[in-house]
Amino acid sequence: MRLSKSLSLLLLGGACIFSAQAQSNFDIIPKPSKVTVATGIYTIPTQLTVIVSDDFQPAVQLLTEHPAIKSLTLEVLKKNKKAPKEGFRIVKAVDADNLGKNAYSIQIDEKGLLLKAWDTPQVINGIYTLVQLGYLQADPSKIAFATIVDEPRFSYRGLHLDVSRHFMPLSFVKKYIDVMAIYKFNNFHWHLTDGAGWRLEIKKYPELTQKAAWRTHTHWKDWWNNGRQYVEKGNPNASGGFYTQEEARELVDYAARKGINVIPEIEMPGHSEEVMAVYPELSCSGKPYSQGEFCIGNEKTFEFLKNVLDEVLTIFPSQYIHIGGDEAEKKHWETCPKDQALMQKEGLKSVDELQSYAIKQMDLYLQSKGRKLIGWDEILQGGLTEGATVMSWRGEEGGIKAANAGHDVIMTPGSHLYFDSYQTDPRTQPEAIGGYLTLDKVYSYDPIPAAIQGDKAKHILGAQANIWTEYVPTTEHVEYMVFPRALALSEVNWTTKDAKSWADFQRRLQSHYKLLQELNLNYYRPSFNVAYIASYNAIKNNNKITLTTEQLNTDQIRYTIDGSEPTIQSTPYTGPFELSSTGHINAAYFQDSIKIGPTLSFDIDIHRAIGKKVTYNTQWSGYPAQKDSTLTNGLMGGLSYHDGQWQGFTSPIDVVVDLERREEIHQVAMNFMQMIGPGVYMPGEMEVFLSDNGRSFRKVGTVINDISDKESKLTFKRFELKLDKAQQARYIKIKASNPKKGYLFTDEIIVY
Ligand code: ACM
Repeated sequence: MRLSKSLSLLLLGGACIFSAQAQSNFDIIPKPSKVTVATGIYTIPTQLTVIVSDDFQPAVQLLTEHPAIKSLTLEVLKKNKKAPKEGFRIVKAVDADNLGKNAYSIQIDEKGLLLKAWDTPQVINGIYTLVQLGYLQADPSKIAFATIVDEPRFSYRGLHLDVSRHFMPLSFVKKYIDVMAIYKFNNFHWHLTDGAGWRLEIKKYPELTQKAAWRTHTHWKDWWNNGRQYVEKGNPNASGGFYTQEEARELVDYAARKGINVIPEIEMPGHSEEVMAVYPELSCSGKPYSQGEFCIGNEKTFEFLKNVLDEVLTIFPSQYIHIGGDEAEKKHWETCPKDQALMQKEGLKSVDELQSYAIKQMDLYLQSKGRKLIGWDEILQGGLTEGATVMSWRGEEGGIKAANAGHDVIMTPGSHLYFDSYQTDPRTQPEAIGGYLTLDKVYSYDPIPAAIQGDKAKHILGAQANIWTEYVPTTEHVEYMVFPRALALSEVNWTTKDAKSWADFQRRLQSHYKLLQELNLNYYRPSFNVAYIASYNAIKNNNKITLTTEQLNTDQIRYTIDGSEPTIQSTPYTGPFELSSTGHINAAYFQDSIKIGPTLSFDIDIHRAIGKKVTYNTQWSGYPAQKDSTLTNGLMGGLSYHDGQWQGFTSPIDVVVDLERREEIHQVAMNFMQMIGPGVYMPGEMEVFLSDNGRSFRKVGTVINDISDKESKLTFKRFELKLDKAQQARYIKIKASNPKKGYLFTDEIIVY
């Protein structure tokens, strides 16, 4: 009797524990180093009294962002005074806590809540964990007893915003900072100047914002395609804007309170068309609208840049100051007498060295003011100046080179961290600059490439994503491009490699959609599209098909392999399957038995040319894919020409397949893609020739392109020649013309 009573109590208790924990959500992003959940629930008082170490008083104000905390009263603990044993306490760590210098700890139990850290940045991280937990709970005031010990993997956790291509109001920049803080970013890179507009008041040069902050067209693309002119503020067509120094200071203070450093970028020596329009005497030609580069041989250039930086330094206390350095067109310097004279005087052997000279002057200047220079990886050209930190954007190579040479590096490779890229099927998206960067690809990024020599890894300070706004004209659109990809990056920067898990991140992310909604963010919603990966197995002569979706449950996908439309009765997708014949696959996502997404349709070809040798009469260029096995490896390209199956040509294509013996040929096809933003076009025509000896070919047909070269959406076309009568041949030659002289991308020569 007794026994059974205590047993039932235990069970009841067990049920209680279970439901208490089930009510609490610990799906924190970025994933903390350690979370242990215990039995019991703590209720945060809405009128909260916080016992706080003196130093942490300003940081504690951030607790008002917690959705359950309505008001705060502080009880300040004087230095060296021990914290009481109970209550809501935010206190300085002591040696006995054994807490890392970059860590914070949170203990929630029957005595209350105790947050500890050594310093303010770590306290802020802890507070944002609490704020996030508040948003994640059904009842934000209730949280299960738990212990959290947490610290970041990288010290630099960055997000960038280009306000030159489209000006973004200060209220939005603050909102951006708000979200960054919740996800533990600590550096905001503000791209303030570029050809499309100068965005910061400079008192010594008021014309910069009277004229170069305004242009004739609101949308960058319209402006770019229609004369690229600046106008005075007040002109009926003037579009743009700028931040006063007071506003910029306000932002700096606002961000600093949230633990975020603001790094201003003032572009030089390139990307400065707007400066040259106002001060043409700083260009080589002396004429406005002639170039975007400063003349380096002109002393006035350095006078101007130093004067500008002097004001910038009074606004931005950041140790790092970004001076751009990317994509300068150096050809003007080659013929400019002033530049040539400087090169001679300084013994500079190339225009690369001339650029390096300019960067070095700025580096020395910034160092003399106690600051550090950051530049894009082009600052490596012509020799990297002593104190510079490199932002590696053209892949990781620049970063690897700089880190191995002992320079600090921030990784921002275009392949993984350019949030201006498409995030899903470009055919379904607002126009973007190009690229293809899915959430899981961002998540997969590791900022320390294998090529970094062991002891040099410390030079990788962290990673940053960039959002260039050429094709991102509104604040809502910025939100759409940045979230949730920024959440994936937050975990890349914070969580150790071993603790990262895409499946677990995707699961936790489901809880964060509610948070993003409560923050009123126009985030990119996970698509109901289905995508596929086909991998050909040469030994089995079959294809393994993997279907994917951004929804959490892939088993809601239904598919057919006979070309019929999928219905709720079709086969549910339970994992990769093998297909040993040619098939036409259709797949779609279903919710509550209703087909909710578009049908994905694709062909799987097991065709005659697989594994056969291809001779290239013209060579691929820049995009080798799988080199000379690409076009007959049985694998089709996907939505991105970066996916390793699309081979790129800048010449016409002229290739020959050797089938090794005479075969009966019914059909020859090649796929092409068009994406005119980055200059990828359909061929004008595809011609097919057959031969028995590989020397004399007979033409058997031509397929003419019918896709307009103005079509700006991502487009795919199978150029397919069906022979009226099957023909015998051993060799097949295919030529594809390149009338636009852009890129041709093709993935396979398909022969039946
Ligand atoms: C850059 O994207 N030009 C740094």
